[in-house]
Amino acid sequence: MPEIPVISAQAVHAAVDPATAVERTRHAFERHARGDWEMPPKVYVQAPPNGDFRAMPARGDGLAILKWVTSFPGNAAKGLPVVRGLVLLSDADTGEELAVIECASVTSLRTGGAAAVSAQALARDGAATAGLIGCGVNGAWAARCLAAVGFEEGVCADARPEAAEALAAELGWSAGSPAEAAAADVVLTVTPGEEPVIRRDDLRPGQHLAVLGADAHGKAEVEREALLRCRLFCDEWEQASKGGELSGPVTSGAIARESVTELGAVLVGSEGGREGDDDVTLFDSTGLAIQDLAIAHAVLEARRAGRVEVPTVAL
Ligand SMILES: NC(=O)c1ccc[n+]([C@@H]2O[C@H](COP(=O)([O-])OP(=O)(O)OC[C@H]3O[C@@H](n4cnc5c(N)ncnc54)[C@H](O)[C@@H]3O)[C@@H](O)[C@H]2O)c1
Repeated sequence: MPEIPVISAQAVHAAVDPATAVERTRHAFERHARGDWEMPPKVYVQAPPNGDFRAMPARGDGLAILKWVTSFPGNAAKGLPVVRGLVLLSDADTGEELAVIECASVTSLRTGGAAAVSAQALARDGAATAGLIGCGVNGAWAARCLAAVGFEEGVCADARPEAAEALAAELGWSAGSPAEAAAADVVLTVTPGEEPVIRRDDLRPGQHLAVLGADAHGKAEVEREALLRCRLFCDEWEQASKGGELSGPVTSGAIARESVTELGAVLVGSEGGREGDDDVTLFDSTGLAIQDLAIAHAVLEARRAGRVEVPTVAL
């Protein structure tokens, strides 16, 4: 009877620090861009009227995952998580089940990892200050990942000032207004995407924006005129053009496929990134299963190396 490890959020964070998350996320984008990793499109299963389930598969480096994750917006009013789920990790050579992993912790590390990788690839030389708008769960981990790649100075802004102050204290950054955060060299937005938090007048030549909060159609954090001023990048065109910051303008015809470059293509050098110091670059993250696979792999390695103790269950 197989014994399968069941890995909690606490164990995931003990296994994978932000610097490792950045490195592994970069690896995922590179392997996928080279065609070595496979990622079929995300499948939605509607659960009306309350929400939906998403199935996100990927395979690479001898492993395969299925992330089974929800979005039930009305749950917040019931005191329940809006997003919850599991990552199932298997051996891609034998099909053997290898682990069941809590999902939100994996998501926050891979999302933060993508933000930091985008900054490493696209921010202008000498970019030193960071701004974060939206200091919730995923915003906090994105800021930790940016701090892990050398951003020692930053401004945290949130509609809940206490969230901004707590994160700023943890990172040695300062708490400030959204306008102050939006003036940084690298700006991360991680709000629910219900209203724009970046406007045309906020943009400064040479900035890099990583917009992470709008990960579904109908959400947006950047005003349309601001978006059209930027040199555009995304995690994966197929997904980003259908659900995320770019999907509205893509649907209306304001943004075409040839105006948007995938991050992985920049990382492997098959397409160009920033073209000049005055470019404002914008990376639209919608969140890919390959990123989850990269973090799940790191968790598995930590467990195999005895760096985290986790319970097992006999199936
Ligand atoms: N791109 C990805 O891969 C990815 C991954 C995970 C989550 N997300 C998305 O990121 C968003 C945030 O997720 P989370 O789990 O961190 O949520 P959260 O609720 O933990 O955090 C959101 C934060 O934004 C703040 N906020 C809301 N409106 C604001 C505004 N106008 N200005 C400043 N701050 C504001 C809230 O006070 C809160 O602290 C969601 O839309 C989620 O779907 C994207």
